[in-house]
Amino acid sequence: FRVPTPLNEPVKGYAPGSKERAELQQALAELNGQQRDIPMHIGGQEVRTGRTLPITPPHDHQRVLGQFHEGDASHVTQAIDAALAARTAWAELPWQERAAIFLKAADLLAGPYRARLNAATMLGQSKNAFQAEIDAACEFIDFLRFNVHFMQEIYQQQPESSPGMWNRLEHRPLEGFVFALTPFNFTSIAGNLPTSAALMGNVVVWKPAYPQIYSAQVLMELFQEAGVPAGVINLIYVDGPVAGDVIFNHPHFAGIHFTGSTKVFQTIWQTIGQNIPKYKSYPRIVGETGGKDFILAHPSAHAKAVATAITRGAFEYQGQKCSAASRVYLPSTIATEVLDYVKQDLASVKMGDVEDFTNFVNAVITEASFDKLAKYIDGAHQDADAEIVAGGTYDKSKGYFVAPTVIVTKNPKYTTMCDELFGPVVTVYVYEATDFEATLELVDTTSPYALTGAIFSQDRYAIDLATKRLVNAAGNFYINDKPTGAVVGQQPFGGARASGTNDKAGSLLNLQRWVSPRAIKETF
Ligand code: NAD
Ligand code: ALA
Repeated sequence: FRVPTPLNEPVKGYAPGSKERAELQQALAELNGQQRDIPMHIGGQEVRTGRTLPITPPHDHQRVLGQFHEGDASHVTQAIDAALAARTAWAELPWQERAAIFLKAADLLAGPYRARLNAATMLGQSKNAFQAEIDAACEFIDFLRFNVHFMQEIYQQQPESSPGMWNRLEHRPLEGFVFALTPFNFTSIAGNLPTSAALMGNVVVWKPAYPQIYSAQVLMELFQEAGVPAGVINLIYVDGPVAGDVIFNHPHFAGIHFTGSTKVFQTIWQTIGQNIPKYKSYPRIVGETGGKDFILAHPSAHAKAVATAITRGAFEYQGQKCSAASRVYLPSTIATEVLDYVKQDLASVKMGDVEDFTNFVNAVITEASFDKLAKYIDGAHQDADAEIVAGGTYDKSKGYFVAPTVIVTKNPKYTTMCDELFGPVVTVYVYEATDFEATLELVDTTSPYALTGAIFSQDRYAIDLATKRLVNAAGNFYINDKPTGAVVGQQPFGGARASGTNDKAGSLLNLQRWVSPRAIKETF
């Protein structure tokens, strides 16, 4: 048995009049007509608590898409018990059979589930069709297929043997259960965190961020149809700290697969540290966290290329990609030209509902996020250190809309150059073109994060210098490209410093964290 090396899933274009657009529109219409009642899924059972919360699209907060059933601490315990009950059978299943289940999930998603998962992501998380397609469809299909490919490589890692002696490595799943704690902004990440651990033979309790529940429900239906057995992935809708309190106190807690904010991850790590004597094994702690991702242009850069990278890198999905560009360093020689191009781009993009396929910008995820962004924008309007050269407006009367905003500052440590805003606001610092080396130092030291970053230059010496001086400033470093859009199997993704444990989602390194190898020596 050997699964061929996968190819990346081709991205569909959803052109007007195309069959794929018609299918997506039909899926949107079906979901809009449904008022879904969304249960938790524990041990293969749908669990309805009767304590329901409405699901509303961020771009139209008066509309209700359905409701979900919220659980409490008792449901977390039930989910752990269900996971542990399923553990032995799942761990002992031949790995080829686990692989087959997740490859089937990939095929179902490439086929009949594609439109529905994309539609749920569009409505629930306010992603336009293209952003949903590259995330919920392509990136998650790639995770599922490439993870199987990497799993095979891990299982093939075997030590040398000699006549009369057989040495082998058994790549056992962790002893206990894994907690998958997932963010709102990528459906693919929400799907990958539980499935990558499960693929390696682990049982999982999965808690998504509330704004992603609408698409999480479709993911769970996909896993069930693909044949994931009852209890292997248990999906709970419980307040984060309530869930954490039960999970991090449990003796069989074996690992956390987290993606979300730095603050939450640090709190979790502290809790795990305090509870360490309670656990049967040292838990695996894998977390991808915040970012303050940069674009740095050298004076030799092509102004138009830098501008396109800013428009796409900072404003696609409303700047809510962990990889989104949010601080930009432009040399004085090309700054005006770059900014003029960006202003031209922004004058032509439209903002609004996801069901109008011509909208480039949609709503930010929640009212809390909107309010935070509005506060920073107000601050920039008033601050002598800052000038807003594009956008700078917001409106939450219908949805949480924040116009793509460009702030220019003379202060390289201005607050919006440093804080993770997680929205469609980018800040530009213009440096003296002769100060490129000093600017490298600024890029490296301005933020505690190190997720993504990009250098634009036509000068090989400058590219090499930036690559060396910024060696620890980004886990994903782009040369003459925007800092978003890492592709599974091509650019393994993750950052260090305050951006995470850098275990590279979509790579062998990540999957390796979900096994605990046993070395066996047998003599004859
Ligand atoms: P978040 O930290 O608010 O939430 C992540 C998850 O943790 C959610 O399921 C949430 O309910 C839960 N949670 C929150 N507080 C908790 C607590 N005290 N105890 C236990 N669980 C808790 O993050 P978010 O707003 O969903 O996502 C945005 C953040 O994620 C940004 O900071 C972004 O940079 C980061 N992110 C990073 C990557 C990456 O690869 N580095 C990818 C995507 C998102
Ligand atoms: N693949 C996503 C990006 O790089 C996380 O933007």
